[in-house]
Amino acid sequence: MTSHLPVLLAEVLTALAPRADGVYVDGTFGAGGYSRAILEAAPGCHVVGIDRDPAAEPRAAALAAEFDGRLTFLPGRFGDMVRLLTDAGIPQVDGVALDVGVSSMQIDQAERGFSFMRNGPLDMRMDTRSGETAADVVNTLAEEDLANVIYRFGEERMSRRVARAIAQARETLPFTTTGQLASVIRSVVRKSKDGIDPATRTFQALRIYVNDEIGELERGLAGAEALLRPDGRLAVVSFHSLEDRVVKAFLRDRSGSERGRLLPGEPTPPPPTFELLSRKAVAPTAAEAKANPRARSAKLRSALRTSMPARPWTWGDVQ
Ligand SMILES: C[S@@+](CC[C@H](N)C(=O)[O-])C[C@H]1O[C@@H](n2cnc3c(N)ncnc32)[C@H](O)[C@@H]1O
Repeated sequence: MTSHLPVLLAEVLTALAPRADGVYVDGTFGAGGYSRAILEAAPGCHVVGIDRDPAAEPRAAALAAEFDGRLTFLPGRFGDMVRLLTDAGIPQVDGVALDVGVSSMQIDQAERGFSFMRNGPLDMRMDTRSGETAADVVNTLAEEDLANVIYRFGEERMSRRVARAIAQARETLPFTTTGQLASVIRSVVRKSKDGIDPATRTFQALRIYVNDEIGELERGLAGAEALLRPDGRLAVVSFHSLEDRVVKAFLRDRSGSERGRLLPGEPTPPPPTFELLSRKAVAPTAAEAKANPRARSAKLRSALRTSMPARPWTWGDVQ
């Protein structure tokens, strides 16, 4: 099994600027690459690691032992970080890092069911203890809803055709494996000129839907705003345009960047809760992209918390 190479690690550390007396949340613990780097960069600091995948727990226990208890692991979703940290007696933090999406370990293990390249059970749940699997979704969702999921989260232009083929196939044989689903998709979507497997977009869509990844990201950003103390830092790494759009829209709204002049009678917008640390998203260097293909599409956005109170989060505000 491949281990996970942390993406944009140096850039995330620069954005977080960890301090020896600080408390940092690593909301996507994974293999602990970010947590380890923060613990090493600021001896004395404390890291709270969160991951919804039970497979992360033994890795976190090993890291906590290595760093004399300076790591606390909280199993769960980063979208619940306010509750998780409050329950652990931590009301405020100095930094929050999120590295969203799946890890190399999750993708590479056929039995997790994330990959169209490896045959395995059609699962795709990051938290294997609860929730609907991808098989449940493709076997039970109404054809039209399935098409909408594939279009929205996979940006698949052939979404209706794919949903039709899935609905027809499941009448004879319900889906149980990734191989079965990939071959039905490949039978109706042609390989694109750039060689991308036709199953890529539908698999992405199902993974995002099964794990409510966009909802989690929205709640995670709002949670970070609520937990960060003034001058605290937020660093978010995303891997595709759907996720990056959410982060960009949130930070644009919260920092007041791109705010035009007020029209007469228009209400004064609330004061910014974040200041952007860089106007543009940071991409990996050519060397990192070459060494780690998974890093190629990564983007980092980071911001500094102001002293203004957190705002209630309503996604409709910024979309
Ligand atoms: C890209 S990996 C993170 C890798 C990590 N930065 C490292 O260096 O090892 C993403 C991890 O976040 C976890 N994850 C994704 N979404 C999550 C969520 N909403 N709540 C908690 N964990 C999540 C996944 O289970 C996975 O282990």
